Amino acid sequence: MATRLDELREEALGCRRCGLCETRTNVVFGVGVPTARVMLIGEGPGENEDLLGEPFVGRSGQLMDKMLAYVGLSRKSNIYIANMVKCRPPKNRDPSPGEVETCMPWLREQIELIAPDIIVCVGRIAAISIIDPQFKVTRQHGQFIPRDGRLYMGTFHPAALLRNPHSKPDALEDLLALRRKLEEMGVMEAQG
Ligand code: URA
Repeated sequence: MATRLDELREEALGCRRCGLCETRTNVVFGVGVPTARVMLIGEGPGENEDLLGEPFVGRSGQLMDKMLAYVGLSRKSNIYIANMVKCRPPKNRDPSPGEVETCMPWLREQIELIAPDIIVCVGRIAAISIIDPQFKVTRQHGQFIPRDGRLYMGTFHPAALLRNPHSKPDALEDLLALRRKLEEMGVMEAQG
């Protein structure tokens, strides 16, 4: 039987609420485990994501998957991944505030349905939109911020890590902190 999340995906696939629908190939709704306790939220689809209809499948996504696997997390087994904006902005420009606002109801309902305990904002744009407009990734990455019964964390965008590999150890620390938090919560077993 189709779940409300399946229905929401179907509705989103036909979305024409903003101009990005004119240039997209695919709506990139989200991927992963619908009952995941952890949800990762990125900014918006790039070229590969637009072509394949799945978030984080390009070079930066491959790096993110590799780092997630290091702490036992994957879109196949225990997390859900979505973006703030579901359609690719042309030439990978930043989504405009209007596009983010117009798209946000899709993400809000997605979050409600998945009901994760922890939301990880991947990159500055997601962190300033979802956690705090003043959020500074370089200073506040890896911190768990409680709000409305969930924990929020901001971390580096994998595209930024490809440009600045010296931030990779910090990004890995954030994921290790996430892993420890999940162990504390009894969601995952201690790593051997
Ligand atoms: N960057 C993002 O923020 N999201 C994607 O899906 C791909 C790249």
